[in-house]
Amino acid sequence: YTLPTVRPQQITEYIGQTAVREQLQLSMDAAKMRGEALDHVLLYGPPGLGKTTLSNIIAQEMGVTLRQTSGPVIEKPGDLAAVLTRLEPHDVLFIDEIHRLSPVVEEVLYPAMEDFQIDIVIGEGPAAQSVKIDIPPFTLVGATTRAGLLTSPLRDRFGLVQRLEFYNHDELTQIVTRSANILGMHAEAEGAAEVARRSRGTPRIANRLLRRVRDFAQVKGDGVITQDIANLALNLLEVDQLGLDKMDRRFLETIIHKFDGGPVGIDSMGAALGEERGTIEDVIEPFLVQQGFLVRTPRGRVATSSAYNHLQVVMPEEN
Ligand code: ADE
Repeated sequence: YTLPTVRPQQITEYIGQTAVREQLQLSMDAAKMRGEALDHVLLYGPPGLGKTTLSNIIAQEMGVTLRQTSGPVIEKPGDLAAVLTRLEPHDVLFIDEIHRLSPVVEEVLYPAMEDFQIDIVIGEGPAAQSVKIDIPPFTLVGATTRAGLLTSPLRDRFGLVQRLEFYNHDELTQIVTRSANILGMHAEAEGAAEVARRSRGTPRIANRLLRRVRDFAQVKGDGVITQDIANLALNLLEVDQLGLDKMDRRFLETIIHKFDGGPVGIDSMGAALGEERGTIEDVIEPFLVQQGFLVRTPRGRVATSSAYNHLQVVMPEEN
């Protein structure tokens, strides 16, 4: 018995990211016709948009096994060599947070990706010898929040580089409706749309909010996800009408009230919020930029007039 998963298992179930899906589908069909492993794939973009899901789907469509690991987990070259030598031909190796691989581990990856070979050093000191061993042809699927975090030799070795975008309202509504069905709930169209509207363009958030709205619907309602129920539940969660959560609002309020609207540098923001720079850049900012609440200038971050409006703060006059 397994819990029902809302994660799509097949490419036909996957909603949104149309360009990415079509390009992957084409390359997978071509690789299958040639009897080859799919070329290496780099997926980048904000968290929660489906990088892991897509790697699952790639393995499933290619009819191979998915091996999953992440940059910080592979500490030594030997750790990666162990994974690579155990692959079956055409397997998919998914490395999440691939930008966090150490330089010595990356060195092992280059010949593995390019020639399906690894160099292993046997012995130590003057007697040390380097031997090349063949590994099975495989597909590396690398995931990262920002492609700019990768070294260029690594980035250049991916044949397919795909950026995942925030989902639009219609796509998110479809995802919420589908997930509600899988969870055995009924979501009215306006109820699903309300959850979608407040999900920061992100399926992972939509599915998380849906579970909380389901709790609310069961305890306070009759189990149906109506717009009213969704509204009440989401207000309780302090997610606002545009999907901004407490952290998003704190971020914009800090720029406006502590830094006169900006420009303010990322490190000053980190110190003021007690958040890591990486979290700010990868998790908080991309959605605010996409929604037009924030601009990144060479001199720092600036809150836009939309941010002032949304937070109902009067924008100071320019002198
Ligand atoms: N659940 C999470 N992401 C999804 C997607 N892109 N399509 C369908 N269901 C999803």
